[in-house]
Amino acid sequence: MRFQGKVVIVTGGGDGIGRATSLRLASEGATVVVFDINPAGAEASVAAITAAGGTALALAGSVTSESDIAAGLAATIAAYGKLDVLVNNAGFALKATQPELDIEHWDREMDGNLKGAWLCARAAMPLLMQAGGRGNIVNIGSVNGLMYFGNPAYSAAKAGLLSLTKSLAVEYGPRGVRTNMVSPGTIQTNAEAWTKRIKRDPKIFEKLSRWYPVGRVGKPEDIAAAVCYLAADEAGFCNGTNLVVDGGLTAGMPIMADELLAERN
Ligand SMILES: NC(=O)c1ccc[n+]([C@@H]2O[C@H](COP(=O)([O-])OP(=O)(O)OC[C@H]3O[C@@H](n4cnc5c(N)ncnc54)[C@H](O)[C@@H]3O)[C@@H](O)[C@H]2O)c1
Repeated sequence: MRFQGKVVIVTGGGDGIGRATSLRLASEGATVVVFDINPAGAEASVAAITAAGGTALALAGSVTSESDIAAGLAATIAAYGKLDVLVNNAGFALKATQPELDIEHWDREMDGNLKGAWLCARAAMPLLMQAGGRGNIVNIGSVNGLMYFGNPAYSAAKAGLLSLTKSLAVEYGPRGVRTNMVSPGTIQTNAEAWTKRIKRDPKIFEKLSRWYPVGRVGKPEDIAAAVCYLAADEAGFCNGTNLVVDGGLTAGMPIMADELLAERN
């Protein structure tokens, strides 16, 4: 029960990684505010939490809207009186390659994946600073922010999110708020980018599993566990860190290594 008595906001908590994280936090005692642009998704996550005996509140809003964020924080304070943790999870990938990318989609991917996280962090910070030195933010990045895997605007936004994680960590660490990041590899969710790929290739996750040294792609629960570690008080010395949760995908390049090692024979 690492989160007993704590209030946590999870953006994009209405599906996928955000839902699994909301459920895991609630199972460890957190009161969870599920903030999502899709009200039905947020309600479904809250229903799952309350069915399991937890406490949660669904709020509809977009991380790209300052007024939605302000209303969400006000509703959180009205209901629970404080905020301990912000999980900046909302995000999405739109255009797969450079030639497909235009200014409109560049802006949408930057706004949804980077600016939104900054807006939420900025608005939540005064509340997190009142959390007795235990306030913190966990940003959800991606391996796309570390290496090229397609989706260039999304990837640039996630790389920017890593930099944002570090600047928040350094500037607000001395004021009692830690900021960390979790960077997932492929996680099997209903995200639009995956739904489209599954339509083209129903076996996409099995195929991609070959690239993962652990022999499988990830589950939302794999990421939820990492988020909960960083958000918990036991991670009090983690600040500005990026926890890569990718089954070893970015640990090496096995095809290159095979060529390199074959040279010896
Ligand atoms: N699934 C993966 O393979 C994967 C890999 C690496 C990183 N990630 C990251 O994990 C996070 C969650 O991804 P997922 O796969 O669970 O996605 P998902 O599509 O399953 O869930 C995302 C949720 O965010 C909500 N959302 C979207 N835009 C929003 C906005 N502007 N404001 C508020 N809510 C919004 C959606 O309604 C949805 O409920 C994203 O940041 C994503 O980039 C996912």
